[in-house]
Amino acid sequence: MDWKTYYSEHITTAEEAVSKIKSGDRVAVGHACSEPTHLVEAMVANAKAYRNVEITHMVAMGKAEYCNPEYAENFIHNAIFVGASTRKAMAEKRADFTTCFFHEVPSLFDDPDMMPLDVALIQVTPPDENGMCSLGLSYDYTFKAAMTAKLVIAQVNEQLPYTYASEQVPVEKISYFVPHNQPIIELAPPKIGPVEEAIGKNIAELVNDGDTLQLGIGAIPDAVLRFLGDKKDLGIHSEMFSDGIVDLMERGIVNNSKKNLHPGKCVVTFLMGTKRLYDFVDRNPNVMMAPVDYVNHPMVIAQNDNLISINSCVQVDLMGQVCSECVGPKQISGVGGQVDFIRGAAMSKGGKSILAFPSTAAKGTVSKIVPYLDDGAAVTTSRNDVDYIVTEYGVARMKGKTLRQRARALIEIAHPDFREDLKKEYENRFGCAY
Ligand code: COA
Repeated sequence: MDWKTYYSEHITTAEEAVSKIKSGDRVAVGHACSEPTHLVEAMVANAKAYRNVEITHMVAMGKAEYCNPEYAENFIHNAIFVGASTRKAMAEKRADFTTCFFHEVPSLFDDPDMMPLDVALIQVTPPDENGMCSLGLSYDYTFKAAMTAKLVIAQVNEQLPYTYASEQVPVEKISYFVPHNQPIIELAPPKIGPVEEAIGKNIAELVNDGDTLQLGIGAIPDAVLRFLGDKKDLGIHSEMFSDGIVDLMERGIVNNSKKNLHPGKCVVTFLMGTKRLYDFVDRNPNVMMAPVDYVNHPMVIAQNDNLISINSCVQVDLMGQVCSECVGPKQISGVGGQVDFIRGAAMSKGGKSILAFPSTAAKGTVSKIVPYLDDGAAVTTSRNDVDYIVTEYGVARMKGKTLRQRARALIEIAHPDFREDLKKEYENRFGCAY
């Protein structure tokens, strides 16, 4: 059967497609801004037909209504990353969490003893002339979900950008197509204040012409981009990027010309931003998407010389242990690709890993540099992996420093309101004057 016949014979409605999901199934939802909103809404509307359907995904940019208490008997949420729309369900103990480096998430779906998938709900572009669908903004784990789930239901959305990727999804891999055009979920640009600007300037001093950057999510990476205007020949090999890169590419500051792996191309596994970004990446040969087991594999990251990774965190203790995903015992995020890139950058010739954050949280009432991580908090990045720590007060390098030297370097970049208490802790811990 040719692909056009296959495609036309497998078109259906969302209601019909989600009726194929069975009680007890494990369902992976396409990632972040590529979430197939129309299919997820149809599944939630059909909730009463299911018992114990497990919903798994990483960043949820949709409403995540399957987490609502009224659906407790219908859906169980197994988060691999917790985001704004799923934090409440985690905090109220109505969801569970699977901890996993981002580059290993596809292997969870491959292994029958871990998290094999019954169903994948994905969003795709209409098929191209060869019968291949683009996953648009998210290849990450979504590609593996599409290739391994027993039932693959795809929302076909003409508004999803067609991105060039190392691999596309053949129509024959998809069980049902649900054509439904709608605007793609957008991520508003973060607010940049004086603190973020100061952090951005500090990080920009660590970036040299010709470096390849990985940018994490949030205000800090976006702030850095504003201070890279005088750099030349930057490259991108990143888990994700956002609107800020569009400006730098249009101005020729990011041109990927010095990259030794995939020269000339930004390499990325997912994209989150506004329509401006989505229009920019549509059939753009300078942007190469690939699944996360490639992009985030530390051995692949390390093949880029001068790889600079820039991520953020919740707390750092005086030894340099980093928590990036919990507030005390509350899981508010996940490891994501942070450790993938910190390790890749450590192995990259000329590479640097940077963790950057405002020195305080909760409207200035708590220091993010603390004597001890809060009780119950997970260590995301170990003290052996951590290297550059940046706040609005400066840069503290951890590698090659003793515990005393680390503590002093961190206290120097803590908020001044908290330095005296941290100095007392230093004196208690090390039995010597600060
Ligand atoms: N003590 C108490 N609360 C804290 C805190 C601290 N030390 N640090 C953060 N918080 C709270 C904030 O107040 C905020 O709460 P609110 O939503 O009620 O206002 C919440 O935690 C999230 O913090 P915020 O600073 O708004 O998050 P962010 O969007 O800047 O992201 C991380 C910061 C750490 C959550 C994010 O970078 C992350 O998830 N990192 C891990 C994954 C990663 O690095 N992936 C690779 C890049 S994609």
